[in-house]
Amino acid sequence: MTTTTQPTYAQTVKERRSIRVYDPQVKISKEEMMEILDEAALAPSSLNLQPWRFLVIDSEEGKETLKDLAKFNQRQVETSSAVIAVFVDMQSIETTQEIYDLAVEKGVMPADVRDRQVPAIQNMLKDIPRPEMRAMNFIDAGLVSMQIMLSAQARGYATNPIGGFEKARIAEAYGLEKDRFEPVMLISIGKAAEEGYQSVRLPIENIAKWV
Ligand SMILES: Cc1cc2nc3c(=O)[nH]c(=O)nc-3n(C[C@H](O)[C@H](O)[C@H](O)COP(=O)(O)O)c2cc1C
Repeated sequence: MTTTTQPTYAQTVKERRSIRVYDPQVKISKEEMMEILDEAALAPSSLNLQPWRFLVIDSEEGKETLKDLAKFNQRQVETSSAVIAVFVDMQSIETTQEIYDLAVEKGVMPADVRDRQVPAIQNMLKDIPRPEMRAMNFIDAGLVSMQIMLSAQARGYATNPIGGFEKARIAEAYGLEKDRFEPVMLISIGKAAEEGYQSVRLPIENIAKWV
């Protein structure tokens, strides 16, 4: 009988490292990818607006398009099971009602609280300057991206966050409205076929201060 033990949280974070070559034979099923994204989307977000959107690029055709957009990260594109493109929806304000309705439906928020909060949020965000909305969304997208990598790691997969790609072209290349969906990063994911490199971190005493 084989037993599988779940890695501890400490193992998961300590063992994660960027992997840039994967076993091309290993395909993550759509079902498991949905579980990874489900876990990742438990990340907190400003006003719980969850502005992240995911494009799971795992078909040959999708990868072919990406090759041209991520020229300096070809091996990850070619060998990974999938590359998840993380975008933010700059119009996430439009999903406020849906999110808060869901909270009421699931019994985690009283209806009167929703009825006060939804207009308050919409009112607060309606005139927010785009750079501010963008900054807010990008913070949220960073949190969800880290959770994708940790969820994958805990399941025995490896990842690589990738910022080296053509941000100005990627939305349109996949038929997304460019002004609305802004790319944040790519995350390649698959079964590791290399050890990767150890990397160092600054000592905490140099970067943290107690007051
Ligand atoms: C936002 C972001 C963008 C990155 N872009 C790239 C990239 O384009 N290509 C690449 O090979 N690695 C990329 N990396 C990976 C970093 O080089 C790596 O995370 C860092 O050196 C620390 O190593 P580790 O991930 O193994 O801990 C990126 C990482 C982050 C967080």
